[in-house]
Amino acid sequence: MRPAPVQAATGDSLGVAATKAGLYFGVAASPGRLSGIVGREFSQLTPENDMKPDTIAGHGGTVQNTGSADTLVDYAQSNNMIVRGHTMVWYSQAGSLSGANQPTLNTYIKNVLLKWGNKIAYWDVVNEALDDNNTGERRNQWPHTLDKDANNDGDYFDSSDTDYIRDSFKQARQVVDSNGLRTKLCINDYDIEGLTVKGGSKNKKSDAMYEIVKKYSQEPYKYIDCVGFQAHFNDNPNSIITDDLEDNIRRFAELGVEVHLSELDIDDDLSNNDIGAGQAANYRKVVRACLNVAKCTGITVWGISDSESWRSSERGLLFTGSNGNYTKKAAYTAVLEELKKGRGTVDPTPTPTDSPTPTPTDSPTPTPTDTPTSTPTGSPTQPPESDCRVSYSDNTWNTGFTAAVTVENAGDDTIDGWSLTWTWPGDQKVTSAWNATVTQSGNRVTARNASYNSLLAPGATASFGFQASYSGSNDAPQEFALNGVTCTRG
Ligand code: G3I
Repeated sequence: MRPAPVQAATGDSLGVAATKAGLYFGVAASPGRLSGIVGREFSQLTPENDMKPDTIAGHGGTVQNTGSADTLVDYAQSNNMIVRGHTMVWYSQAGSLSGANQPTLNTYIKNVLLKWGNKIAYWDVVNEALDDNNTGERRNQWPHTLDKDANNDGDYFDSSDTDYIRDSFKQARQVVDSNGLRTKLCINDYDIEGLTVKGGSKNKKSDAMYEIVKKYSQEPYKYIDCVGFQAHFNDNPNSIITDDLEDNIRRFAELGVEVHLSELDIDDDLSNNDIGAGQAANYRKVVRACLNVAKCTGITVWGISDSESWRSSERGLLFTGSNGNYTKKAAYTAVLEELKKGRGTVDPTPTPTDSPTPTPTDSPTPTPTDTPTSTPTGSPTQPPESDCRVSYSDNTWNTGFTAAVTVENAGDDTIDGWSLTWTWPGDQKVTSAWNATVTQSGNRVTARNASYNSLLAPGATASFGFQASYSGSNDAPQEFALNGVTCTRG
């Protein structure tokens, strides 16, 4: 049964704080865990088990038994959350896909992408391809058994080689592009978080992942959009939180891919961990590392509450309690505080122009959208419901448009630091902006004040504009929210 929708994330919540900082903050869940807290606290949802092939893959690459996954997707849609699909090609929980050849994998990849289309913002196409124990090798079981190193040079990157990672992403890319989907394609693994492992030696597993992402995110392939660092931190020498986490996130980000901390949980007793801090401090450190890199665009905690976690004995999550009765831990407060501080100094640093004059032409060349962000000055104060008004007008040509947006503080309190969010109904993509810093993740857009228009006294307005590309139709956004509160249209 589809659960009743709960109120979308508002006010003080992890999801709202993250949106203001320009990233998503999500949670892994199953249908049995969809209490109101999920919609209130989080802006993204990953099915913890319900989209894995052992649940939904049928004979010959067909897709079946999607009821639980549909429940989660519907819930996310009703609660304005994006979905990270997890996962397609994986040695574990492969169900009837286990041992499949590449054509069958390709059939499955196509079916599963088309089943949910743009309702899924990110898909883990390949999961956990790399071996344990920091060997830097691939796992030796299926689907690696599909690989062939034709020239015996120790990699699977040559055109004569067969590489299931390349071929799975190639198929996913082809399906996304030929069906006009916006779904982004991710590779996901654990123990790839640090540049080094405990003791300071190189993290060979991370280096191996880096080579894969470098190869298949660049020309001529351009298959991979995003990499998930699972971020299951514990006492294992390869799974600790190292001081070079941020540098490693940045190394991947500089390839042009988005980085996600896709399955975060942190053992609350990292007594052997070389940083030796408490759990809340560790959460703070990890969240800060992501915030400091503009292309680190999302964090997902792997469950709501300690007792309901896959590693309950390590108490690695942000809440205690069960069955919807949850209590926030110190780690929760630390994460919220850190998210509220925003990105800080990130790279690349955006330079919004003060008064640009965009000149749309018939065939504008969209510049790639990065995710630059800046910290709004002051701490945003929340206006009460509907105490903001937004006007939006666009000037559209065949593949692009400019838009002018005016935000009015219709409440009684001064707002110091604002962030306006909306969701595109189509495939619009912001390419440049002025008088605000505008970032886009999937079809969700966040416009943050420039340093000179952060203050909005009651009745005051701020205006900004942007240029964007689109295909199909260019319908205006249905709804805008200022600092997480829905605005009336003026
Ligand atoms: O639902 C059945 C229940 O009916 C049965 O009584 C019980 C008996 O064991 O099993 C239940 O299913 C379990 C399922 O979780 C739901 O709780 C499975 O046995 C158990 O194997 C499964 O574990 C999942 C694990 O992946 C399987 O590999 C965890 O929930 C899930 O958190 C975990 O997630 C993985 C990511 O997909 C990939 N990265 C690592 C991460 C943690 O292992």
